[in-house]
Order: sequence, then C-alpha cells, then structure tokens
Amino acid sequence: MKGLVLAGGSGTRLRPITSTSAKQLVPVANKPILFYGLESLAESGIREVGIIVGDTAEEVSAAVGDGKRWGLDVTYLPQAAPLGLAHCVLVARDFLGGDDFVMYLGDNLLTQGIDGFVEAFETERGSARAAGRQPPVAQILLARVPDPHRFGVAELDASGRVVRLVEKPVDPPSDLALVGVYLFDSTIHQAVAAIRPSARGELEITDAIQWLLENGHRVNSQVVQGYWKDLGQREALLEGNRLVLESVEPRVEGLVDAESRLEGRVVVEQGARIVRSVVRGPAIVGEGSVVEDSFVGPFTSIYRDCRIVRSEIEHSVVMASATIVDIGRLVDSLIGNRVTVARNEQRPKALRLMLGDHSRVDLA
Ligand code: G1P
Repeated sequence: MKGLVLAGGSGTRLRPITSTSAKQLVPVANKPILFYGLESLAESGIREVGIIVGDTAEEVSAAVGDGKRWGLDVTYLPQAAPLGLAHCVLVARDFLGGDDFVMYLGDNLLTQGIDGFVEAFETERGSARAAGRQPPVAQILLARVPDPHRFGVAELDASGRVVRLVEKPVDPPSDLALVGVYLFDSTIHQAVAAIRPSARGELEITDAIQWLLENGHRVNSQVVQGYWKDLGQREALLEGNRLVLESVEPRVEGLVDAESRLEGRVVVEQGARIVRSVVRGPAIVGEGSVVEDSFVGPFTSIYRDCRIVRSEIEHSVVMASATIVDIGRLVDSLIGNRVTVARNEQRPKALRLMLGDHSRVDLA
C-alpha cells in the first residue's frame, strides 16, 4: 500500500495567507497541517509516499524533506496546474504502478488515525476474494456535516451501501460529506481516465468514484470517528487549532520569568521567553518567540520567532516571525508569516483580522 498526499492546489479560501504560502503548511498547534497526515500514514504502516506539489513545491519540499523523520520515503510529484483531485491520480500514475493506495488531502485534519480504515479495506478485500464475492475497489470515509453542499456528498441505500456520489450538490441527497481520505486499488486509473472535467473545470475524484459505481464496482464506506475538518477556511482552521490544543501535553522548555504566570495546558517551546506576562492555556508559544508584558489567552498558537509585546491575544493562530506590539486585544485572528501589527495610540478594544504574509497594520 502506498500513500498519495495532495499538497498542490491554490488555497483560494485562505487568501491572502495562501497567496505566498502553502495552505497545507499553515501550523495547527505549531505543526503544519500536512504533518498530521504524514504521521497518520506512517502510523498505518505505509512507507512509500508520493506528494503532489504545485506552485508551492519548494516550500513544501523544504518543510517535509525526504520524509525520513516519519520513517517515510517521499517522492515529489509536480502537478503543472491545479486541475483537480482525480488529475492528481493521473499525475501519480507511474509512481503508483499497480499498487493499492491511500489518497490523503493535505489540508484535512483528522484526530482518528487511519489504521482502522486501511485495515478494514484490506481485510474486506481478502475475505471477499476468499469467499468468491466481489471485492471493493475503493473505500471512502464520510462525516455528517451541517453544510453538505460545500463537499462531495454520498447517498447510501437502506443497507448502508454507497449508491451515488455527487460533488458540491445544490440539493444534497444526504448530510454525509466525503472526507479527504480515500482508499483505492488500481481500478481507479480506468475511472480517472474516463471522466471529464466538472463545471469548475476540475477532474473530480468524486466523479471518478461515481464512475466506479456506475461500472458495477463495489465501493465501501466508513463514517469517521472523532473529529474531522477541512482546514481551508479561517474559522475551520481556528477550530482545528482549538481542538488540537485541547489535547497537547503541557511542557516548558523555554524561559518563564518570576513575574509571569502559566495557567492550565501551556506549552513553551525551546528558546521561547515569557516576560511579565500571563499565558492561559490551552496555548502554545513556539521556539524563539518572546511574549512580553502581554496576555496570551486560551486556544492560541504562536509559532516560532514571534514577538508579542504589550498586547492581548486570544483564540488565534500566529504564524512564524510575526510581530504584535501595543495591540489592546486581538481575537479570532489568523496572522501570516512575518506580519507586523502595531499601534501607536489607544483605539478600539477588539480587532478581527485575517492578514497575509508580509502584511503590516499600523493603527495610529
Ligand atoms: C474536496 C473534494 C470534496 C471533499 C473535500 C474534503 O473539495 O472535492 O469532495 O468533500 O475535498 O475536504 P475541495 O477542497 O476541492 O473543494
């Protein structure tokens, strides 16, 4: 079994953060989203992983490297343009050969591992063959969502069998969304070669799986246990961050001066300094970051080499090397790499921001 991880795409729903950075590298509890997926693949016993990369190829490969850190052997597969998830399977054709594979969307965050999912597919294929029954050629993962029209949606019959899949339907046949983790055998290559681009001009993996169904193949499904979120939007990202922070193990590897206080579940990474400040968990302050005369509130992640001075920040994600100075109170915010937010005089008490890399906001 191989892994195919999708880390191309343009991340339009997280602009401007993604105008200059890969959405899959946005940190959740100070770890790029993509790394959670790679960890899950490694834990399920997969070794060979192909990563589809696009415009942000350099950044993704700099962050992931050769994959040895997870015990993985990573091959980068460049996709010239973001032409859809099924197009990624076409791009990976040679890498995948005739093997079964897990396809994992690099912006999906799941708290459950994928071992059970992979195991169920292999066991079912084995026992179907042994019993002379038709083995499933694909297995999908589903989650009940309040807004199915934003996703691929599955329709099941009374016995729970998948009968139809439709991508972003105006009138969803159910509330079961397709989670971005799929299992395929080599039959999928016939499907991706047969389908045509959708209305949004992409080769949809949903249409490829629908093709499998229409051509008499069996597709199994499982409903996700635990939390799942596609972190393509600010609110979802903050929610994912909140959820992961709730289970981080508190640890202090940096410096906390005598005038500071850490409350609850707090991580202070190596080289970080907390000076005359309060950090109320769940929260994480990254490597080399400084928090001075400030309050870092619950559900906040401050990535590496940031400076938070005379400010309050809560329920937010701050990316690398950002500077926040003299801001009364920052909430529900996503602050990009190397952003500066500063203020000269007293102004409103709360701000809600979404800022891209290299932005600068001066509230005079
Ligand atoms: C893609 C798939 C969709 C799936 C979703 C999960 O959507 O097309 O079927 O439900 O990922 O994250 P996209 O992110 O391309 O809009």
